Amino acid sequence: MPQKSVFDSLVLARAMPAAIPAFDAFDAHSAEGILMAFEEASCPGLIAVYDKTMDEANVDALVAYIRRRASALRVSISIILDHGRDLRQCRQAIELGFDAVMFDGSGMSIEENLRQTAEIVNLAKRSGVFVEAELGHVGDAAHYPDDLTGLTDPESAVRFVEETGVDMLAVAIGTAHGVYRNKPTLRVDLLRRIAEAVTLPLVLHGGTGLSEAQFKSVITSGIAKVNVSTDLYVSAESAIRSACKAGGPSYLELGAIARDTIKARCAHYLSVFNTREIAQ
Ligand code: 13P
Repeated sequence: MPQKSVFDSLVLARAMPAAIPAFDAFDAHSAEGILMAFEEASCPGLIAVYDKTMDEANVDALVAYIRRRASALRVSISIILDHGRDLRQCRQAIELGFDAVMFDGSGMSIEENLRQTAEIVNLAKRSGVFVEAELGHVGDAAHYPDDLTGLTDPESAVRFVEETGVDMLAVAIGTAHGVYRNKPTLRVDLLRRIAEAVTLPLVLHGGTGLSEAQFKSVITSGIAKVNVSTDLYVSAESAIRSACKAGGPSYLELGAIARDTIKARCAHYLSVFNTREIAQ
């Protein structure tokens, strides 16, 4: 179907309030599970491709596969680079036809993050590609909460958005990537201050392990895009292990188990995020 821009959908989502998930795909099985969930729920969606996946020799074929399959659906699917490392990698994604790129300069000084993000926005705009950047730093859940430094400062967010021209902003409000050691505590008060200071769609990374109440609270406080990855793959691995214990699926059945488990987890998030209410 004709694509509504992902940015327009995210602006709608923030106003609703609702959120569009970005699910990371690594191969055809995971991409199929994600696409089927979006199609069955009649939701606009984002498929994310990690920086490391961009280094694989077959990434161009993977992106072409997702694009081809998405074009046959009745829903708008956009492809976004996840945690782009630098200008070179963002250029690679733009040349492969991505709709959006996320540049992750969150490990840099704010000045360097700002300078590199502005350069990437400048490049991306020429191709009509949207840019997400991260201010503050979303760390690793394995070290949570020791790794919980660098929360997003609302005043810096205003300056960062104005000076870079970025379309979406990923914020650090207490989430982390991966499986949490301890139950995460989110700074929704801080999120509200950021959302009052900047009007663009805000993004939450580290969706795995949050409760439904936490999701609802951040979505009603300005988050319009939520990234989820680890849960999809941990769930698929566990489904495959159970099937193996129960007698062992054939090699040909393994992909279908992964696809169907990922689809079910994606469907769960689409329902929690109220995504199906976003007009396409
Ligand atoms: P999780 O793997 O914790 O869900 O985080 C995903 C993410 O933020 C990808 O950018």
